Amino acid sequence: MPEPNPTVPASETPEARCPFHAGPEDRFPLPRQHPFHPPGQYAERGREAPIRQVLQWNGSPAWFVTSYALVKALLMDARTSADATHPSYPAQSPALVLARRDYQAFAQMDPPEHTVERKLLTPEFSAKRVEEMRPKVQAIADRLIDRMMAAGDAADLVRDYAAPLPCQVICTLLGVPESDHAALQGWSAEISSRSTAPERAAAMIREFCDGYLTTLVRRKNAQPEDDLLSRLIVEQMRPGHLSELKVVSLARLFLTAGHESTTGTLGVGLATLLYHPDQLERLRCEPELIGSAVEEILRFTDVTHAGRLRIAKEDIEIGGVTIRAGDAIIMHQATANREAAIFADPHRFDISRNPRQHLAFGMGIHRCIGQPLARMELAVAFNTIVQRLPAMRPTETLEALDFHHGMAIYGLRALPVRLGTLAAI
Ligand code: HEM
Repeated sequence: MPEPNPTVPASETPEARCPFHAGPEDRFPLPRQHPFHPPGQYAERGREAPIRQVLQWNGSPAWFVTSYALVKALLMDARTSADATHPSYPAQSPALVLARRDYQAFAQMDPPEHTVERKLLTPEFSAKRVEEMRPKVQAIADRLIDRMMAAGDAADLVRDYAAPLPCQVICTLLGVPESDHAALQGWSAEISSRSTAPERAAAMIREFCDGYLTTLVRRKNAQPEDDLLSRLIVEQMRPGHLSELKVVSLARLFLTAGHESTTGTLGVGLATLLYHPDQLERLRCEPELIGSAVEEILRFTDVTHAGRLRIAKEDIEIGGVTIRAGDAIIMHQATANREAAIFADPHRFDISRNPRQHLAFGMGIHRCIGQPLARMELAVAFNTIVQRLPAMRPTETLEALDFHHGMAIYGLRALPVRLGTLAAI
């Protein structure tokens, strides 16, 4: 049963509002047939109809776009809006609907406001700032691996590495104390989950934003340090350019956008390497391939599998259809990233492919602002674990792994391995 959209009255059934009769293949999302590939029906149906209508998980209709050319064209189209306060804006999870509506930041805004707000944050991701972060990320990766090795030969790479590493990096960037990391991981997972009940989602978002983040911003205002949040407070909030609510909303955006996506890419990426042992071994022997391997992992795992979400601001004629003003649009870049015309043999995982034209960071004005940091972080994280644990092997079959199918961001619950360190002693 689809769960209700908290923005839609429960009395309105999907069927009552649906402008067409949706068959089972016109639902979104559909289950994956293979944990490493987007559902095959998206591309199959997309061959006849690269833009078609679907019913979302919460019963609301949307245009669903799967071809690389059309996804790219719509991401660059100024007639689309990312305004999440629009009542038809696609819902990724009950909590994200509320977070984006009540704590809106530039990711869900249009120009000119989007441009002004994004420009404030752009210097935080300059090449210089990212390089300053590199030794800190390296130290985090090394510490986590030391801890795993000290705990014995069995490890869970999600619990011990893929979940804590991005959390510690984003918290270091923002200036969140280490004692809060575990709570943040819990909030982040609940925010992304489609199964968080709407009432729980509302209470949790208030607790996270009005409670935790507001207290953090006030504490930093009283005692600023050398971090992103303190800079925003001192340079923008104190002179009155940004309100306290806006700083809280930006902190909320960075803690969610910069966290689950990197955890998912790291977890599913490690699984992809472990279950493609030839590619894992190649990366170990040829560490200079790391840049290309990170791009291929981003293309292949593409964890933001709920798609790029927009609303049409005016009628848009594209791909033989007319998207009407106010219609919801979901651009499924994970399917576009498997298009054979763009990526030869697209379902093959090949770390030497260097697919720089992938869409995993989006495109156009909303392309990921954190991508320089994410690329560095993933390169350090993959390289360090592959080099330091050369005998690491999975202990479960791929079929036995538990992937996050019901989350806005794809990921893994656990990735059990033997580190192989005992054999080396
Ligand atoms: C592997 C990791 C990551 C992936 C796959 C990813 C993916 C994406 C994608 C696809 C978008 C475009 C959204 C859209 O078009 O609607 C985006 C935007 C964004 N990302 Fe990332 N991201 C990652 C890491 C990060 C990190 C580390 C940060 C911050 C520290 C971050 C912050 C943001 C922000 C703030 C936006 C909104 C940009 C805007 O609307 O102008 N992301 N990300």
